Amino acid sequence: MCGIVGYIGHRKADKLILDGLKSLEYRGYDSSGAAFIESGSSKIFKQIGKVDGLENIMSKQKINSGLGIGHTRWATHGSPSMVNAHPHSNEDQSIIVVHNGIIENHLELKYELESKGYIFKSETDTEVIPFLIDYYFNQDLSFENSFKAALKDLKGAYAIAAISTLNPEIILAAKLSSPLVIGVGKNEHFLASDPSALSGYTKKVIYLQDLDVAKITKTKVTINNLGHNHRVKPKIELIDYDNEKAQLGSFDHFMIKEIFESPATINNAILGRVLANKGIIKLGGLESVSEQLKYIERIVIVACGSSFYAGLVGEYLIEELAGIPVEVQLASEFKYREEPFSRSTALLAISQSGETADTIAALKKVSDYGILRLGIVNSIGSTIARMTDAGVYCHAGPEQAVASTKAFIAQVTVLTLIALYLSNGQTKLYRPILKELDSLPEKAQTILNQTDEIKKVAEKYKGYKDFLYIGRHFSYPVALEGALKLKEVSYIHAEGYAAGEMKHGPLAMIDKEFPTFALASNSLTLEKTYSNIEEIRARQGKIIAVSTIGNKKILKLANDVIYIPDTLEQLQPVLQSIVIQLFSYYMAVAKGFNVDRPRNLAKSVTVE
Ligand code: AGP
Repeated sequence: MCGIVGYIGHRKADKLILDGLKSLEYRGYDSSGAAFIESGSSKIFKQIGKVDGLENIMSKQKINSGLGIGHTRWATHGSPSMVNAHPHSNEDQSIIVVHNGIIENHLELKYELESKGYIFKSETDTEVIPFLIDYYFNQDLSFENSFKAALKDLKGAYAIAAISTLNPEIILAAKLSSPLVIGVGKNEHFLASDPSALSGYTKKVIYLQDLDVAKITKTKVTINNLGHNHRVKPKIELIDYDNEKAQLGSFDHFMIKEIFESPATINNAILGRVLANKGIIKLGGLESVSEQLKYIERIVIVACGSSFYAGLVGEYLIEELAGIPVEVQLASEFKYREEPFSRSTALLAISQSGETADTIAALKKVSDYGILRLGIVNSIGSTIARMTDAGVYCHAGPEQAVASTKAFIAQVTVLTLIALYLSNGQTKLYRPILKELDSLPEKAQTILNQTDEIKKVAEKYKGYKDFLYIGRHFSYPVALEGALKLKEVSYIHAEGYAAGEMKHGPLAMIDKEFPTFALASNSLTLEKTYSNIEEIRARQGKIIAVSTIGNKKILKLANDVIYIPDTLEQLQPVLQSIVIQLFSYYMAVAKGFNVDRPRNLAKSVTVE
């Protein structure tokens, strides 16, 4: 998620903007920038990397302005680069804009503007905004009315701030789906995508509502709403600041905040990619290699940790839906294999951070094999994203907690889309899965609504030193991921196993001190999983079962049951994962550990 800061008033805008951007650093970003209007002309500064870098280049310039906007970018379209960093402007830099969100129809707008002679420099969706305003301004509209006219052309989500030499006494702001708040001061006003950026300056804020357009001067805020075209009376509210708290909102930790983003995460992974009613999947990141993909006869997935387990879900999905053989390999082991690679093999790297050294090494190893290298990455423009020939971004937003939760959900969702895309619609499951994907966010929310029950179960088992996680077929990778989640945040020994392996050894560990987490949703393998559960019970093993709402039989077999909504077997990993993430989170909280920063672990393993 990008960060926006704006200011108009008597202070030095450059210092205020930099302070505000630094307070938004937690949101994660890859570049930043700021723009100021001074004596009728504009100054724009951009920098990739830390806000300190932006501060450094600004300090070398004399800035004496009381009007400015700033931005930290978490790239959604186009890699982190100077040209893609915000602010974006029209040709003569008389109109300058920062934006948070996704303009879904930016390509159509871009083609239309190019046909009118506009020359785009960046790969971003945002750049259409200043050009649209410029276009309408040249139709003899005022800066404000040009801004409104431009907004009416946009489809998607936006929080926008715009300044202009055409009217250096105002900031224009607009909001649709992406948050934006106005800070109210004495003969000054502030603007931010997150109230935490205003702490220390004002406690009086106006939360913009969807389709609000605000004209902000030093002394006045005027709001119109494009939805009902009426003036809106600004509602001033008081907020209490605690920076960390402001960043976490009502959540105690980033991990639980990110788990609660699951419905939005599924939506964002699908947004603009699935036209369910037409049965179309558009994966823009694969279009450049769509011809090559037709000749792919084998896919090797390389990844580490949770991303590896997401890959195992992808193996089942791609083989079943697209009929392409898949092998998933730990990136850390891939480098030691001397396996033959034919040119019809594609390598698919999965990585949240895009900076995992072992996965980078795997991509390097095949760099001269002449094979297609694909990526599923969350951090746009990251090393892995730039090393691959094509890929699909997760769009999960920055993941702060070390334990991967929403990124895993996004990876599995994206793998489902890729499997359907590769199937070319030739699987009977194509339409049913597309239809079911639509209801997945709501089903995810159903699980989130029962966190109290899951918390109680975790607290009940917090004294145990060992856990077994078991699952079959699509639930097997979830069992592995569940064991990892528990290990990494609560430091409890946990093993994930294919349920069918019980008799081949793990059953020997079972006694009343060794509970089992059994993934037992409605599926073709459920009867066999019941047998595994019976084997465990016969040895006094306790069972926590994840099962489908309405399943009564499981109540007789398990000591505790956590229910999830019914869904297609191919989509169960998405819903089951939310349960195992919540269980691990509440176990770690019950044990009093640092949930977001578990001991010995880093968010991104950038060394081999
Ligand atoms: C996940 O909870 C872990 N923090 C870790 O296993 C992680 O998935 C692994 O290090 C891979 O990271 P990546 O997805 O950024 O490549």
